Amino acid sequence: MFKRISGLVLAGLTAMSVAACGSGGSDTSANTTGGGDSTITMGFSQVGAESGWRTANTKSVQDAAKNASITLKFSDAQQKQENQIKAIRSYIQQKVDVIAFSPVVESGWDTVLKEAQNAKIPVILTDRAVDSKDTSLYKTFLGSDFVEEGRKAGKWLVEEYKDSTDPVNIVELQGTTGSAPANDRKAGFQETIGAESKFKIIASQTGDFTRAKGKEVMEAFLKSNPDIDVLYAHNDDMGLGAIEAIEGAGKVPGKDIKIITVDAVKDGMQALADGKINYIVECSPLLGPQLMDLAKKVVKGEQVPARVVTEETVFTQEEAKKVLSTRQY
Ligand code: AHR
Repeated sequence: MFKRISGLVLAGLTAMSVAACGSGGSDTSANTTGGGDSTITMGFSQVGAESGWRTANTKSVQDAAKNASITLKFSDAQQKQENQIKAIRSYIQQKVDVIAFSPVVESGWDTVLKEAQNAKIPVILTDRAVDSKDTSLYKTFLGSDFVEEGRKAGKWLVEEYKDSTDPVNIVELQGTTGSAPANDRKAGFQETIGAESKFKIIASQTGDFTRAKGKEVMEAFLKSNPDIDVLYAHNDDMGLGAIEAIEGAGKVPGKDIKIITVDAVKDGMQALADGKINYIVECSPLLGPQLMDLAKKVVKGEQVPARVVTEETVFTQEEAKKVLSTRQY
């Protein structure tokens, strides 16, 4: 379906562009071709719209497809694996040129990936990994090193409490259960603080990467644990929800309870600059341009690296104040 067609035919196809049917979640299809004589169709299955990060990631993918003259069929899985599997099957039926998706959880993808492979449609993993042993089921994985993000969070904590011998009571708001960022951010953090027995994770529960759940779970943590020193939230949104819970309990976020989060979206950076969060590990959602470059290469049959790791940094409160006005997302 990698088409070489005239501008006239292309204009006709643009007008007739239709949404993918029966794929679960919500689907849209945009023929974003920019007038060249060839086009690639990408089927993209997004996790959902659970966080500021996700919204920025969706925008990055949609804008980049437009700029690269790639026709994007987009499906929002509403954080359900079954919706992603339906969307991928729908893209296979439609014979798209390439499928990209950000897997909501790590396990359970082999069957549908095999179906794509049998149909000779290349697959690109973006943002999140799968745990399939057979790595030939996808061409490349573009995204952050989530274990390293967890390590960075842990390193800040170790440094912050380096002169203290008292116990440090930590509560953890995990991301979506079974997702790569939840598994890896937990592992990297644990690995880094694990050598010092003063660090104690006294409660750890999923907040599903959403603000509402972050607030709800933090309220429960506060009720059953009077002596919380630190909150480690796997994303800004859960941290922001937790801040509401902490303030509601009459405590001062950033002081009575120190807060570390991951992402560095604008709302998180504002809270960091305001002193309500103490440290943010960046996770960049701006994967669209690299994804489109990789897609063009795999459709042409060119070799691509098996793993493309996103470049990221970390922010203190002072650094957040400096960069807030120029933050893109
Ligand atoms: O997979 C990336 C994670 O998913 C982001 O950290 C989080 O905000 C999002 O929901």
